[in-house]
Amino acid sequence: MSMPERTIYQEFAGRQVLGRLDPTRSRGCFCIDLCHGLSRSSRAPVTAILGISAFYHDSAAALVVDGKIVAAAQEERFSRKKHDAGFPTQAAAYCLTEGGLRPEQLDYVVFYDKPLTKFDRLLETYLAYAPAGFQSFRLAMPVWLKDKLHLRRTLRQHLAGATRARLIFTDHHESHAASAFFPSPFARAAFLTLDGVGEWSTASFGTGDGNRLEMLRHLRFPHSLGLLYSAFTYYCGFKVNSGEYKLMGLAPYGQPVFLERILSHLLDLRPDGSFRLNLDYFNYCQGLTMTSKKFHQLFGGPPRQPEAMLEQRHMDLAASIQQATEEIVLRMAREVQRQTQMPNLVMAGGVALNCVANGRLLREGPFDQLWIQPAAGDAGGALGAALFVWHQLLDKPRVPVERDGQQGSFLGPRHATAAVTRFLAGTGAPYELLENEADLLTRVAQLIAHGKIVGWFHGRMEFGPRALGARSILGDARHPGLQAAMNLKIKFRESFRPFAPSVLRERAGEYFGLQADQESPYMMVVAPLLENHRVALTPADRETLVTASDLRERVNIVRSTLPAITHIDFSARVQTVDEPRHGRFYRLLKTFEQLTGCPVLVNTSFNIRGEPIVCTPEDAYRCFLATDMDALVLEDCLLLKEHMNPTAIQDARQTHLAQFQPD
Ligand SMILES: [Fe+2]
Repeated sequence: MSMPERTIYQEFAGRQVLGRLDPTRSRGCFCIDLCHGLSRSSRAPVTAILGISAFYHDSAAALVVDGKIVAAAQEERFSRKKHDAGFPTQAAAYCLTEGGLRPEQLDYVVFYDKPLTKFDRLLETYLAYAPAGFQSFRLAMPVWLKDKLHLRRTLRQHLAGATRARLIFTDHHESHAASAFFPSPFARAAFLTLDGVGEWSTASFGTGDGNRLEMLRHLRFPHSLGLLYSAFTYYCGFKVNSGEYKLMGLAPYGQPVFLERILSHLLDLRPDGSFRLNLDYFNYCQGLTMTSKKFHQLFGGPPRQPEAMLEQRHMDLAASIQQATEEIVLRMAREVQRQTQMPNLVMAGGVALNCVANGRLLREGPFDQLWIQPAAGDAGGALGAALFVWHQLLDKPRVPVERDGQQGSFLGPRHATAAVTRFLAGTGAPYELLENEADLLTRVAQLIAHGKIVGWFHGRMEFGPRALGARSILGDARHPGLQAAMNLKIKFRESFRPFAPSVLRERAGEYFGLQADQESPYMMVVAPLLENHRVALTPADRETLVTASDLRERVNIVRSTLPAITHIDFSARVQTVDEPRHGRFYRLLKTFEQLTGCPVLVNTSFNIRGEPIVCTPEDAYRCFLATDMDALVLEDCLLLKEHMNPTAIQDARQTHLAQFQPD
């Protein structure tokens, strides 16, 4: 197979044939109960695999039993520390509880990357820049010496009871690739993983076929699309590894006036999407910052301070790096298709969370269908690692599931109505129990249609960064003032970003420019709002839209019949909602549609700025009291703010808001 001229992709030397484990070492002696959980009955033996990702950001645990995803959750939801990077002790404990397992019943514990290879990269990079990188090397050492270099010991300590489990370390990009392909609905597909960096790889592609992944090419550190995007995130004053969404949301306000400068100075981009960064402009190899003085000179000044005013230059930078990213992703995808000849693509890695690029890839790229792991960042590595052991290393067959194997990504804890009522009894809060679902949904739909903002807590918590209808705050997308109210009074965040819409799957095509039959159940693609839902602007509005220094003024201009979810460029991060995946949430949307004719709701994550998405009824109740949310639905229980004790509200607000640092 010929390669394009001057490619920078590298082959995986000797890695195409990946090793297998001896399955006889998997001494399964438990079986899946027909309802749930595992029991010691004498039915067929099962194999329980716990995947772990930790010590970078967004630690997580995932449990796979006989190839089925039983549970997966991020540690931040339990520890209440956003992007918690510590060992996922509570997430792992939850996964075991969900599976009805004790630690000693685990057959395999698998870590999502190879710490020694990573350390090798750290050392080599330090030596290449020594003594310039000493300060960052010194700061990195304690955590390496304490946890990462002795990961076997660390894992054994944290999972003390897992005495019979074999410990396995998968490659970082293998974990991402496995998280993308194995749960996907495709029997065969190409994969593309894109992130900051794993061990050495920053991107990889290959094929998935049945139960096998084959790695074809990769890009090596320090040439990284994720780190390039993060450099601009840092330079524009947002936090690396969490503020990338803000940069993406800022892009529609700008013009890509710096695109040529990026392409001609920062990187040498090849026709096949591979590239080499000019490291004179970056500082992440040797320093404590992402960008160098030369970068600052090129783009007209020092990095923006986090809470400083956003200038047009920052918006133009955001637009420019967004467009560069899309160009790279499109070129890579074309190369992946050329090399693999596959009709469908699966993706994972932090860059796969760039839903604007994903939307363009769907519309303009060479693939018929796209499936992206909802927990595309490192949290999803825990799930990928566990599935990798089952299919790739143990050579267990894989039968693709009709929609996909991700189960709507509702893989976290649930709290049934009985647990909710016990909790509410302890608070003394007044509530209404609506055990007839139709009555509950009618009440909630009526509240939303009257402009109320409703906290919605139902079923198993989502795995991944998006709220998908289990831990969501909902509102009426048609309401002109809703966006500003939600931003300022509920989320306490910068308000230049609109909210995301959830739309009935069967009516999505009437509102959004999704390709025929394309669904977006995990909110991973952006699509344009169709022309017939846009409204004509007055000359004054047009002026405000491009000149107002306060971006809230711009985003609050009513530009469509669904103003709360329409971005400045008419784009929207769409979630399509279907009954098999979304159950009661689908039926709520349907009830709202029957009441109003509108099949769309605003859906934002159930948290305030800086807080992880709520996990338990307690978390949800505290967040409800601390904000101006009008109503709270906890399973079958409905609480109204107007019935709450004002003193309790005041106390909760002070305590809750003081607890979280704005991110
Ligand atoms: Fe990663």
